[in-house]
Formats: sequence, C-alpha cells, structure tokens
Amino acid sequence: MESDQVKNISDGTTSTDEVVSQDFVGSVEPVEPSDVASSVSMSTPQTNVAVGKGLDIGTANILTALRDADGGITIRRERNAFLDIDGDVHSRSMLTRLNVPYVVREDRMYVIGGAAFELANIFGRATRRPMHDGLISPAEVDALPMVQLIIQKTLGEPAVPNEPVYFSVPAESVDCDNNIIYHQGLFSGMLSKLGYAPTPMNEGHAVTFAELAAQDFTGIGISFGGGMVNCCVSYKTIPALTFSIARGGDWIDSNVGNVLGIPSSKATYLKEGGIDLRNPKGREEEAVVIYYRNLITYTLDNIKNRFVEGRDMPNFNEPVDIVCAGGTTMINGFIEVFREEFSKQKFPIPVSNIRLGEEPLNSVCKGCLVAAISSAD
Ligand SMILES: Nc1ncnc2c1ncn2[C@@H]1O[C@H](COP(=O)(O)OP(=O)(O)OP(=O)(O)O)[C@@H](O)[C@H]1O
Ligand SMILES: [Mg+2]
Repeated sequence: MESDQVKNISDGTTSTDEVVSQDFVGSVEPVEPSDVASSVSMSTPQTNVAVGKGLDIGTANILTALRDADGGITIRRERNAFLDIDGDVHSRSMLTRLNVPYVVREDRMYVIGGAAFELANIFGRATRRPMHDGLISPAEVDALPMVQLIIQKTLGEPAVPNEPVYFSVPAESVDCDNNIIYHQGLFSGMLSKLGYAPTPMNEGHAVTFAELAAQDFTGIGISFGGGMVNCCVSYKTIPALTFSIARGGDWIDSNVGNVLGIPSSKATYLKEGGIDLRNPKGREEEAVVIYYRNLITYTLDNIKNRFVEGRDMPNFNEPVDIVCAGGTTMINGFIEVFREEFSKQKFPIPVSNIRLGEEPLNSVCKGCLVAAISSAD
C-alpha cells in the first residue's frame, strides 16, 4: 500500500455523534431463538457510505469506523460486556417495563453493551466481560454469541457482499504466552459469516495509520487499552516492530484496588473520576499515579530492549514522533508524565515529538478504516 494513497484517506474529519452505547436501549425488540446471532437483525441504514469499514475489537470497547458520503468518518462505540439474568416471567416483565432490549438463549436472558452496565448498576451486579488482557477470555468462551451481537450492533450489515473490514488484533505479548492465532482466527471466521471480507490488523499499526499521515507513516504508535498496551514501530506504512504488554487500564485498577483494599470497580471509578497525574491528592490518587508511571516506564523499557535486540530494524536518521492512543491515555496529565519518564531514558532512536492521538479512543478503528478503504480502492 502506497503511503500517499493511505494519507488521502486518513485526512477525513471524524464525527463521533453516532456513539451508540446509550441509544442501544429500546432499539432492538426482544427475540427468543436459540441461535441469537443469525436471528437478530441489528443493521443500521447505510445509504451513501463508502465501501470498507474499520473495527476495533477491544477488551473494554468495540468500535466501528465508516466513511460517509461527504468524506467524514462516523464512529460507533459499544461496551464489550453483557449481563445474564434468569429467564423467569418476573424478570422478563421487569426488562420489558424498563424498556431494556434483551435476547433469550437456553432459558437465560442476556442484555449486552452499555445497557448491561446500566442494569448492573441498578442490580448491584458485575457485568460479564468476554475478553481479558486483549484476547477472548478462556473463562468466557460461551460468551461468543454475545460478542457477535455487540459486533453486529456497531458494524451493521455489509454495504456490499464481502465488504472489506480491517479488524484490530493485539501483537504477541512480551510478558505472557498468549494465543493470538486462535483469537484472530475466531474473529476472522465470525466476520466472514456476517458477510464481510475480514483482514486482521495489528492494533499499534492501526494507530500509526490514523495518526502519522503527516510524518509519512513513520514513527511509533502506542495503544494504551483496557487489557493491553500495543506498540508498533512503523517505517513508511510498514510495521518494523510490533509487540504487546499484557497490562493496561484493568491492570492499574486491580493493583490500585489491591493496595487500597477496595474492589477494582471502585478503583476504575476513582481513576476515571478526574485525577491529574501531575498533582495527585491523597493516598488513593497517589496509588493510581504509581501504577501509571510503572506502566509507562515498563512500555518504554520494552521498546528500548526490542530495538537493541532487533535485527532488520530500519535506520531512523530523522527524529520520529511517538503517538499515544487508547482509553488509558484519557487521564489528565498522561502525556506530560509520559514525556517526563521518557526524558529519564536513553532512547535508542531520535524522537522529535511525543503527543496524544487526535481522538485517542478512536485511533485504532480509524486506522483500520484507513487500511480497509485503501485496500478497496
Ligand atoms: N477518563 C479516563 N481516565 C482514565 N482511564 C480511562 C478514562 N476513560 C477510559 N479509561 C480507561 O480506558 C480503558 C479502555 O480503553 P480502550 O477502550 O482503549 O481499551 P480497549 O481497546 O477496549 O482494550 P484493549 O485494546 O486493551 O483490548 C479502561 O481501562 C478505562 O478505565
Ligand atoms: Mg484497544
């Protein structure tokens, strides 16, 4: 793929006003078949859209990016979570009364995505999460039909038969033995059954496609997600080095929870509640900062080590940018603390600019869209 061709596409402006986690409530009628996925049509009308979609399958969120007729980009987002409830008459009438959409499978009712979060709060229950540390969770393999429903909800039906979709996959981890091949094959098969022509795309590589157009797609893209950190060193659209770390926002939450003696859900609430990493107030906020700093230095150490070990690495004569994306970068002061930790390191290549992605939550699906459209042109 030529970098000029990719650049023209990645310049489109993004519209996030179609984020769907809220408007899911009430948008699907309850249905009752055993084969949930094939029987629920959750397509969104898609007139005048260009062929090719980007799909970010994340531990915390699933997002789709598609291009509108006017060249803008629309993003749809849904939580990657669900809640299962006893299928008795009482629960059913309660869900109908609350106007919460559900599907029934083997005598249980399932509520998916953002609606599951809302309901879990009402019931004081925890949602189930099909993915863990960036991959489909071995403890939740029976949750696959739910992930498929969430994907269908954001992706809609193909605009044409075998529409190209690029979907994000993590890279092999440096710190654990994870099975990317199974995860990738599973989603590839699922998307083919939904009528798409799927291509896996490394998550860090997708960040470089979305954020490094002005640098000719040369530089370092890092996605700090819920379950993982994914890094890619790219040279003119080509990924020279990719790897992941099996730590992310969830790792921060569970560690903060452990040291403070609080549930990790409470630690998430604390972390997302407006802390400034540069100015922690009190013991609880200081705990969050400690794990953030550790995650950042651990990431930088790993990039450095891989450069030192790496054979066939391109020579970066000009300084490159480092772009950080993903939900974990949304905390106040993230990029300043990243720069501070970076300045303590002796980094193996010259770096000019360290910055956040334009829309850090959307970078991965936008990069996948850029690749999908480039492949379809
Ligand atoms: N304002 C915020 N402050 C701090 N953290 C946040 C904020 N908003 C979201 N997060 C964190 O971002 C993480 C989710 O990010 P993201 O959606 O990029 O992950 P993902 O792509 O689903 O996961 P992965 O790529 O690891 O599989 C969660 O840990 C969440 O707590
Ligand atoms: Mg991600």
